[in-house]
Amino acid sequence: MLIYNNQHFMVNNEFANAVQKGLNDKQKHLSPKFFYDKIGSKLFEEICNQPEYYLNRIESQILTTSVSEIMNTLKEKEISVIELGNGNSVKTRILLKRFHANLNKVCYFPIDVSLKMLKKSMKDLSTEYKDLEIFGTCSDYVSGLRKVNEFMKMKNKIPQKKLLIFLGSSIGNFDPQQAKNFLHTLSKYMRKEDLFLIGIDLEKEKSILDKAYNDRMGITAKFNLNVLARINRELDGEFKLASFEHRSFYNKQKHRIEMYLESEMDQEVKIGTIEKSFRFKKGETIHTENSYKYSQNALNLLVKKSGLEMIRKFTDPKKQYALVLLKKVSGTAKS
Ligand code: AVJ
Repeated sequence: MLIYNNQHFMVNNEFANAVQKGLNDKQKHLSPKFFYDKIGSKLFEEICNQPEYYLNRIESQILTTSVSEIMNTLKEKEISVIELGNGNSVKTRILLKRFHANLNKVCYFPIDVSLKMLKKSMKDLSTEYKDLEIFGTCSDYVSGLRKVNEFMKMKNKIPQKKLLIFLGSSIGNFDPQQAKNFLHTLSKYMRKEDLFLIGIDLEKEKSILDKAYNDRMGITAKFNLNVLARINRELDGEFKLASFEHRSFYNKQKHRIEMYLESEMDQEVKIGTIEKSFRFKKGETIHTENSYKYSQNALNLLVKKSGLEMIRKFTDPKKQYALVLLKKVSGTAKS
């Protein structure tokens, strides 16, 4: 077990700058990446257990039914599994368990921005699978992947065959243009024999989507509001959580869930660390997240534009969610 950590000293400053900028814009906004402090990560885990939030459950089902076929496409008996944003690695276990039992050597490289989550999931995994080699990288996706790549090249004992995984439909936080660029960037770190497994939520009936982001227990609301609580905790903010309301709905034209925090009254909120106050009108919103949903067509287009090709697509019977296995389009330059 080895941890490479390069970023968390900067986080607070980055958070303060983003809050300052985001709350000054005409449409106030905060990036969804700031949801995931320790409390937010816990709340997200709880969201995944809510009956309305089908994404996690269906993805696990698809993983379970497709793991044999995924393994058969690997060919090699040794593999390095690189996971972008592993969270608690619960779903990854479905893959790792099978690989571990059937292959000669498996190395696991989780990359996550949360050092605490990273350490915890690495510890849990290493007690479960004694001879699984785990190398954690605390970093954002792209620089993490670059570091893992450099590390792999230096060590000849590490399996060179890569399976990149990006689960949970996290790609949905990017708009389609950013998503394309992101996938294209990732493809530069792949060789022609490497594979990439990605989970993507599919477009569906609005009522199902609206419910998934407005669960009855109010966990999604808590998760959304936690970003204000986090400003209070880390940046000496004075947000009264009761004076903001969670709002989220599916925007059909834009193919995305939009999530907001709406001010229930005219108010002014001081944030100590930034040494500023921010004014909110009654009904004014802070945009906190987009979560894009893909039609089968949009998904095909996204993949095609990214310099990748689909070698398998696994879906549930109702076609609510897709797990897609990709490789680099042959003929693209290697890195
Ligand atoms: C982690 C980005 C995939 O968009 O469904 C869950 C985050 N936000 N409920 C999603 C989220 C509200 C989630 N992703």
